[in-house]
Amino acid sequence: MSRFLVTGGAGFIGSNFIRHLLAKDPDCFVINLDKLTYAGNLANLESVSQNPRYQFVRGDVCDTSLVRRLMGQVDWVVHFASETHVDRSIDSAEDFIETNIRGTQVLLDAAREQCHIHRFIHFSTDEVYGSTVSGEFSETSRFNPSSPYAASKAAGDLLVQAYVKTHRTPAIILRGCNNFGPYQYPEKVIPLFITNLIENKKIPVYGNGENSREWMYVEETCRAILFVCDKGQIGQVYNVGSGDEIRNIDLARKLLSLLKKDETSIAFVKDRLGHDWRYKLNSNKLRNLGFEVSGKFDVHLRETVDWYLAQKSWWGSLKKDVYTIK
Ligand SMILES: NC(=O)c1ccc[n+]([C@@H]2O[C@H](COP(=O)([O-])OP(=O)(O)OC[C@H]3O[C@@H](n4cnc5c(N)ncnc54)[C@H](O)[C@@H]3O)[C@@H](O)[C@H]2O)c1
Repeated sequence: MSRFLVTGGAGFIGSNFIRHLLAKDPDCFVINLDKLTYAGNLANLESVSQNPRYQFVRGDVCDTSLVRRLMGQVDWVVHFASETHVDRSIDSAEDFIETNIRGTQVLLDAAREQCHIHRFIHFSTDEVYGSTVSGEFSETSRFNPSSPYAASKAAGDLLVQAYVKTHRTPAIILRGCNNFGPYQYPEKVIPLFITNLIENKKIPVYGNGENSREWMYVEETCRAILFVCDKGQIGQVYNVGSGDEIRNIDLARKLLSLLKKDETSIAFVKDRLGHDWRYKLNSNKLRNLGFEVSGKFDVHLRETVDWYLAQKSWWGSLKKDVYTIK
C-alpha cells in the first residue's frame, strides 16, 4: 500500500488531488496535514471524510516534531501547503515567508531523516519565472519573481533543488500554471467573477484587462501529478501547463456570456502593484514523458460555472472573508 502525506490538502488543489488519488489508487492511504487557515476548508473533503483510507491532521508544516512524526508513517509526500494569494502577499509577506519557505525546509529535513521516502513531489508555480511579453518559459528559464508570493515560492523551489543535490532527496518539482475548478476559494479571479455575477455584483478587472494567463482545469492538474508520481524522474522539474492562454478581459467576457450578463457588469480597477503582464509555460517536457492535456478549456469553464451555481451553500459564507485590496 502506498502511504501519502499531502500537505495543504484542505485547500483548492490539495482537496481535488486527495479525492482524485483516493479514487484512482484503491491501495493508497492518505494523511492530509493542513493548518486550516482561511483558505483551508474541511467541507472540501466531505465526500471522503469517512473513507478508512483517509486521515486528517490539523497542524502546521512548520511544526518540526509533528512533521517528523507524520513523515515516519508515509512513503510519498505531495506538498501543496502554502499561502497563495498574491494580493495578500503585497499587503504582508510574513506568513508567506514562514509557510512557503520555512515550511518547505521543515518537510525536506523530515524527509531527509526518513530514508524510506520514495518521492517528494513539490508543487511550485509558473510565477517563479515572472512575466514575459512573448514566448514561453521552459524549466531552465531564470527565476524572476515579481510578488512576495512568487519570491517565497521561488525560495521554496530552490530549497528543494538544493536538497536534491546535497542530500539526494528523491524530489520532483512541478510548476503549475493558473488552476480553476470546483472548491477554489472565492477570492481567486475565476470564482470571484462567477460568484459576483451570480450575486448581481460587478467584477473587478485590473488595469485594462490585457494581462494574460495560462489556465488549467484542476482535475487535469491532479492527473498530471499522479502521472508524474508514476513516470517522473527524481531531481527533475516539469512545467504543468495546458497551453490555454487567455487575456483577463476575454476571460471576463466568457464568464459574462455564460452567466448571461453584459459588459456593464465589469468594473475596471486600479492595476495590482507589480502586476505580471503574461505567464506562459512550455510544457513539452511533460508532454514528451507521455502526458496529454484534454484541451477542453471552454467545457471546463462551463462546468465550473455550473458547479458554483449549484454550490452557493459552499461559497456563500466564504465570501465575507474575501480579501479586498487596501
Ligand atoms: N491555484 C493555482 O492556480 C496555483 C497555480 C500554481 C501553483 N499553485 C500552488 O499549488 C499549491 C496549492 O494552491 P491552492 O490554490 O490549492 O492553495 P489554497 O490557498 O487554496 O490552499 C492552501 C492550503 O494550505 C493550507 N496551509 C497554509 N499554510 C499552512 C501551514 N503553515 N501548514 C499547513 N497547511 C497550511 C491552507 O489551510 C489551505 O488548505 C500552492 O503551493 C500554490 O502555490 C497554485
